[in-house]
Amino acid sequence: MSTDSFTDSPQKRPTVLLCIGMAGSGKTTFMQRLNAHLHSVKKPPYVLNLDPAVTQLPFTANIDIRDTVNYKEVMKQYNLGPNGGILTSLNLFTTKFDQVLEFISKRAPTLEHIIVDTPGQIEIFTWSASGAIITDAMAATYPCAVAYIIDTPRTTSPATFMSNMLYACSILYKTKLPFILVFNKTDVVSHEFAVRWMTDFETFQQALQKDSSYMSSLMNSMCLVLEEFYKHLRVVGVSAITGAGMDEFFKAVDEAVKEYETVY
Ligand code: GTP
Repeated sequence: MSTDSFTDSPQKRPTVLLCIGMAGSGKTTFMQRLNAHLHSVKKPPYVLNLDPAVTQLPFTANIDIRDTVNYKEVMKQYNLGPNGGILTSLNLFTTKFDQVLEFISKRAPTLEHIIVDTPGQIEIFTWSASGAIITDAMAATYPCAVAYIIDTPRTTSPATFMSNMLYACSILYKTKLPFILVFNKTDVVSHEFAVRWMTDFETFQQALQKDSSYMSSLMNSMCLVLEEFYKHLRVVGVSAITGAGMDEFFKAVDEAVKEYETVY
């Protein structure tokens, strides 16, 4: 698509990709891969880093929370531990988010994607007022999708898989945004087992029963909840390290955003 088609079309707005995931799932590496992929295949994205505690970013951010707040100073000043420091830093940054939106809006007509890295500890973004304010502000202005990054090799046990899916489910219902489950690190373990468990209810139930004999009726009810959840999302397997699966990821984003705009 040419650059001009964006400037010519006033309705065209960049899509925001919120990268959310458990600590160590590979959010930052995935962001780096997104950035590299968009630079080489589409258009350079606008990049936001919302993780105040990251020591080294393997990409250049257009807006970096660390330029506004020093989380170690925040910890000292408010006598907080690391998580309190990160949360308070995000709260302080959120008070200036209108300025961030202004910066973005100036660049928006020339952009296709805005990519957002979130703090390492998932709940700091997903269960805080600041996370909700930032998400709502972005979603009110631009088409927005959540990329929920999963550490595939660490999710092969049925019970871990189920808790990860339930967590993802809670984020879907909290954000109510187009949702893509991104099974990362497929260079180590393929995500085929996950797709099978998500599409064949009985296979997953059998795996669960082998894994844990207690609370089986609760587990079965949870499985039914998840069956419903799976209908509302898209699944892709990627490797942030090798770049495998990136075309499928962007196809899933486009489809999810389009479907969302048609339905809502
Ligand atoms: P925090 O911000 O600390 O929570 O981590 P994160 O979710 O941003 O994960 P990060 O990108 O720091 O990656 C965590 C570890 O997983 C690093 O050692 C990465 O090199 C590794 N990693 C990330 N993506 C992949 C992948 O696709 N394949 C493999 N093999 N390793 C990966």
